[in-house]
Amino acid sequence: MQVIIADSAQEVARLGADQLSALMRTRPGAVLGLATGNTPIALYDELIRRYRDGQLSFAQARSFNLDEYVGLAPGHRQSYRHFMNQHLFNHIDIPLAQTWVPDGLGDPETVGEAYEALIDAAGGIDLQVLGIGRNGHIGFNEPSSSLGSRTRIKTLAPQTLADNSRFFSPDEFQPSLAITMGIGTILRSRKALLLATGESKADAVQAMIEGPVTASCPASALQLHPCALVIVDSAAGARLE
Ligand code: F6R
Repeated sequence: MQVIIADSAQEVARLGADQLSALMRTRPGAVLGLATGNTPIALYDELIRRYRDGQLSFAQARSFNLDEYVGLAPGHRQSYRHFMNQHLFNHIDIPLAQTWVPDGLGDPETVGEAYEALIDAAGGIDLQVLGIGRNGHIGFNEPSSSLGSRTRIKTLAPQTLADNSRFFSPDEFQPSLAITMGIGTILRSRKALLLATGESKADAVQAMIEGPVTASCPASALQLHPCALVIVDSAAGARLE
């Protein structure tokens, strides 16, 4: 696992965008694994800027998102499909038909397997973008998730529900289930790029990098990834030895 401690959140986004830019230049048809949440917004803004400057094209890329809320239709304003359209896809040249987000309305028995089959048919993920939860989750693989898990439905942990409640208005339904790529799915990506910013992530970042590989901190499984790059700002990296 390679770790970069950057000066600021903007620098994290810039260095993360450098990784995607380099991949897109050498492999225009790359398969990207993408994340939602606060952390990658600055990364996506930087990618949009580079696309508008003519430095980057995503016309041949394909993408698979990590997760989606169970019970939300793609058009729902809280769905992760909506998030991706709003924060990235609507602003770059990737055709929406080349982007996949797990189906939040899919049959729970088959939706995970079907998503894995789509990833396999695309040739696997070249670069998986990840954030980290304060409890060490990656995707929605909450603590105690199997390190070999594949795409499936998971119950969100109380802390994750509380952390994400900021995105929902008080009278709005907040799903407590999500469909998420598994830790095993993430470990199969050819490169993993985890970004973390802010002091609220410092404990999770330390556990991921310096703690034991354990299902109690799902992100620690990245220690087993053959090509994992973690980019954090100084606040998120503050507890590293
Ligand atoms: C989102 C995802 C989550 C987030 C994590 C951090 O697709 O899979 O694991 O990356 O919850 O979220 P933020 O960036 O909002 O702190």
